Amino acid sequence: MNILSVASEVYPLVKTGGLADVVGALPAALVPHGIRTRTLVPGYPAVLHKLKKKHKVGSFDDLFGHPATVLAAEINGLDLLVLDQPALYARDGGPYLDPTGRDYPDNFRRFAALSLAAAEIAGDNIIPGWKPDLVHVHDWQTALTPVYMHFGSARNMPTVMTIHNIAFQGQFGASVFAELALPPEAFSMQFVEYYGDVGFLKGGLQTATAITTVSPSYAQEILTPEFGMGMEGLLSSRVASLTGIVNGIDADAWDPETDPHIMEHYGPATIKRRVANRRALEERFGLENSPGPIFCVISRLTWQKGMDLLAEVTDDIVALGGKLVILGSGDAALEGALLAAASRHRGHIGMVTGYDEPLSHLMQAGADAIIIPSRFEPCGLTQLYGLRYGCVPIVARTGGLTDTVIDANEAALSAKVATGFQFRPVTADGLRLAIRRAFRAYSEPKVWARMQNQGMKSDVSWAKSAERYASLYSALLAKG
Ligand code: ADP
Ligand code: GLC
Repeated sequence: MNILSVASEVYPLVKTGGLADVVGALPAALVPHGIRTRTLVPGYPAVLHKLKKKHKVGSFDDLFGHPATVLAAEINGLDLLVLDQPALYARDGGPYLDPTGRDYPDNFRRFAALSLAAAEIAGDNIIPGWKPDLVHVHDWQTALTPVYMHFGSARNMPTVMTIHNIAFQGQFGASVFAELALPPEAFSMQFVEYYGDVGFLKGGLQTATAITTVSPSYAQEILTPEFGMGMEGLLSSRVASLTGIVNGIDADAWDPETDPHIMEHYGPATIKRRVANRRALEERFGLENSPGPIFCVISRLTWQKGMDLLAEVTDDIVALGGKLVILGSGDAALEGALLAAASRHRGHIGMVTGYDEPLSHLMQAGADAIIIPSRFEPCGLTQLYGLRYGCVPIVARTGGLTDTVIDANEAALSAKVATGFQFRPVTADGLRLAIRRAFRAYSEPKVWARMQNQGMKSDVSWAKSAERYASLYSALLAKG
């Protein structure tokens, strides 16, 4: 079976969050199921520069007013297709934002072009001798693909649309519709029209053959007004086509026995060796070498991630004898509040702002616990890395966090299955309480070690989830 996966980011070439990790890791996990994936991504400078060997496999004379080339390349076993269209992608800045942090004004065109290219690769003879059997798209940036397919020659090919985060919907003013090269009837309830605007995600959710999201709990939550962000009605009407499949992790990139970014390798039987990583972490963040748990946070600094709640509990962590290391970037006010906490508590709280992949590995390997106080979390990956690294997750009970961490309640502790701490309501007090529970468990080394061990043994690989994607694909193809 051949799959065309379409996404706006892919690890290890371009990443702003977990989407890239998932798009980068799923294809390898599908190989044992006889599934070959080609992944189409935009030719941002970062992508083109990192790909040494690439060759042209197709072209468009005119894609939204500009010529474009499709390049093929391989990296880490990923079979990539790159849409090289300098007019849209050769920009300074990130995949979505210019260097000053503003959305590119033509994002609707940049991602409509990616989606149209995908639809034409699926339906027309763009890549001579190659067509997919099914197209899998991710998030709003690629959500117009099934819409273009519906009005094009790949109309009967099945599509899967995965929601990684329903908060980002790609909503634009009605005036952009004229530029999307869609027939007039597409500006309707059944397709992209959304309260008078154009909704990319909305169009994808209406037209994809199947919809998935990245955990069973989130699949339930988005059917409610609290989490559905306006899409709950549409999703409820399509509930028979909606499933939640939890993410796995790239077990090669995230393996404490071989990780090149950490000071000392370790595994479940040699967990005591983590101490060298703890020391390295203290040094890197300018912390005192003192006992007590070290908590870490690796996150986008946003309201979704509950970073304001974290700011409220920093003093408590220090008062209880703990230390805190933070790596993140995002909202300036939240960054300011956390930096202020770091300067109030020199030697006890350290913060690095920005994006630093190697440092994120050292933090998982050296800290005792990772705090994830998200208000909503479709899946979350950092708790999965935490489990694998013996960095005990303290998480809000929401979305994928609910599904992947086993709370250390009495029953779970006595059954020896606990892997972390969950809290609800997701408030500063809720978080404070969870942190107190973590301190208590940490003060009993046996209890703590058992939780770490249990976490390190939990299955966070892609194996089971890849099987679920494989059977979804097969079912869709069988329906034909
Ligand atoms: P989201 O995609 O919503 O941001 P996830 O938990 O799914 O949340 O994925 C976040 C990914 O980004 C993880 O791989 C995490 O380690 C990484 N990450 C987040 N912030 C940083 C940062 N400042 N530096 C390095 N890695 C980061
Ligand atoms: C999104 C979600 C996150 C999820 C990731 C990968 O960014 O916010 O919860 O883990 O996508 O699916």
